[in-house]
Amino acid sequence: MTAPALPSHSEHSGPPAASRPVRPFLKWAGGKRQLLPRLREFYPEAFGAYREPFLGSGAVFFDLVNQGRLAGRRTFLTDTNGDLVGCYAHVRDEPEAVIKHLQRLAARYTRDPQGHYYRVREKFNPARQAISNGQGIESGRYTADLAAMLVYLNRTGFNGLFRLNSKGQFNVPLGRYSNPRICDTENLRNVAAVLSAPTISIKQVRHVDGLAGAKAGDFVYLDPPYAPLSATAQFTSYTSEGFSTGDQKQLQRTLIRLARKGCWVLLSNSTAPEVAGLYDGNRDAERAGLHAYQILARRTINSNASRRGQVKEYLITNIPQRVS
Ligand SMILES: C[S@@+](CC[C@H](N)C(=O)[O-])C[C@H]1O[C@@H](n2cnc3c(N)ncnc32)[C@H](O)[C@@H]1O
Repeated sequence: MTAPALPSHSEHSGPPAASRPVRPFLKWAGGKRQLLPRLREFYPEAFGAYREPFLGSGAVFFDLVNQGRLAGRRTFLTDTNGDLVGCYAHVRDEPEAVIKHLQRLAARYTRDPQGHYYRVREKFNPARQAISNGQGIESGRYTADLAAMLVYLNRTGFNGLFRLNSKGQFNVPLGRYSNPRICDTENLRNVAAVLSAPTISIKQVRHVDGLAGAKAGDFVYLDPPYAPLSATAQFTSYTSEGFSTGDQKQLQRTLIRLARKGCWVLLSNSTAPEVAGLYDGNRDAERAGLHAYQILARRTINSNASRRGQVKEYLITNIPQRVS
């Protein structure tokens, strides 16, 4: 495999290695916290900009921040979910307003968890509806109030899911938590400080648009909605947000283009046959220097308890594995 050439990116101020570790402030279906020890084996030794086009809760982004690996680097974080991106933007720009709202919600939850959760959900939906453009939520129209409600519903709702019904309404039921940590003030302030670095941008765009400016030597971590292992899995999982077989094929072409350009790429996905076909023994992928590793991961979000446990997943990458 040919090593991608490294560009000379200027080392101006970037997100500091946080003095206390920063944690994802949202839980997200398919979040990668559990998998970090395996993913770290593939962080490149040196790289230019960092790009994460399927941000979710940003487990890898926050891990790189904690390791000081993003200091001085341009960092491009993108996701299509307008609620998610709007929430990040308000935590960054108005952390104290978000914290104030959230503390109030947390205090009321303690008195009456069930009643309060559903009252907040009933307030959240029309407030979202009011800023919807008919297709979905534009992150730029989000408010600190909505951001606080999203964090609250995420910390107290079932499995931290973000799920909308066919009318576009958030319909996740109350979760089973005895004492959920709703407002982690210190972490929210640390996250705000990290995200405020002038080198970091967060945008609501499709992955292809978020990757248009990628250059040789950039590190790109891609964690798309997983291809379903079965038709039933598709029905019950968060992939109902509509990442189709066509999208998976387009993503493969993007990955090959980035690898040929000399970017360091790392993609996670399921071991569904369609993913195997795109990467495992696929001539175009191999010629671009991509390797398909199968690893074991713990499945955390599955409504069927009997299907929780160790599952195989793919890591597709052109980065040499670091063996410690
Ligand atoms: C598996 S999750 C990412 C999880 C993340 N790595 C974490 O640690 O939480 C996939 C994300 O991709 C986003 N997404 C779905 N389709 C997308 C698209 N076409 N372009 C960009 N983001 C997309 C979803 O909103 C979701 O946040």
